[in-house]
Amino acid sequence: MDLGFHGKIVVITGAAAGIGSAVAELFAQEGAKVMIADLDSNRGKEIEKKIQNHSGYAEFHLVNITREEEVQKMIHSIIASHHRIDILINNAGLYAHGDALSFNEEIWEKIVSVNIKGVLWCIKQVGLQMVKQKRGVIVNVASEAGLVGIANQIVYNLTKAAVISITQSCAIDLIPYGIRTNCICPGTTLTTLVEVSLAQASDPFSTREKLENSRPIQRLGKPEEIAAAILTLSSEVIGYAHGTIMNVDGGYTIW
Ligand SMILES: NC(=O)c1ccc[n+]([C@@H]2O[C@H](COP(=O)([O-])OP(=O)(O)OC[C@H]3O[C@@H](n4cnc5c(N)ncnc54)[C@H](O)[C@@H]3O)[C@@H](O)[C@H]2O)c1
Repeated sequence: MDLGFHGKIVVITGAAAGIGSAVAELFAQEGAKVMIADLDSNRGKEIEKKIQNHSGYAEFHLVNITREEEVQKMIHSIIASHHRIDILINNAGLYAHGDALSFNEEIWEKIVSVNIKGVLWCIKQVGLQMVKQKRGVIVNVASEAGLVGIANQIVYNLTKAAVISITQSCAIDLIPYGIRTNCICPGTTLTTLVEVSLAQASDPFSTREKLENSRPIQRLGKPEEIAAAILTLSSEVIGYAHGTIMNVDGGYTIW
């Protein structure tokens, strides 16, 4: 099935690694022009090269999404070259351990800045362009942690609940301008984010086993599986999907 991405300009935050890089590779395979927006230039340039080596179109853009002026500069430079932005995938995010008694100012600033403020700056700066175009698609990446309580990660959980709320607000505010907004809630997926968190556990092996057994499907997700869901929600083939909060979590949130 042709999902209609040929020549589309797609901005993907956090596309230098994990789920974001899988999204970038998949969009490029579908003929889209992907903008890898990340603060890791080494990995970002590696993904750019990998996509180009497979005859895809990719550009790496160095950006810290917590700074509005950096996001604005990047978006202006993309518009100067490509004259429009069709799709924004708000994927960049950080994780931290800690419960209500142990989180501190540093964790709060770091996680809230990227997972909430960064998402808002990207929506604002890309949204201003999409309003001019009178069309656009935004997919935000939240988490199963935004839907149910998960122990010992209170700040991460609340930021992901905020991403769901941001999606619902934007789905109402931006639809008069032809901008469709949806949200994916991945379950635990094997990426650097999870590998780092497992490495910090006292017993990484049993922690991983527990994570696998905590969902009916009894395994962790693959970045490609989350990327496929994001790609589908971005397509006009599923154009009636709007304000959708789609969980892709091996059943974690249903039991
Ligand atoms: N991996 C999981 O199990 C899982 C589960 C649910 C939700 N998620 C969400 O999916 C998204 C991607 O997760 P992942 O596991 O691929 O993470 P990852 O750590 O593998 O990759 C995150 C990317 O974001 C980039 N990034 C971080 N801060 C940034 C900033 N300020 N500006 C620009 N780029 C920045 C990093 O450089 C990195 O390339 C995150 O929002 C995460 O919360 C992940």
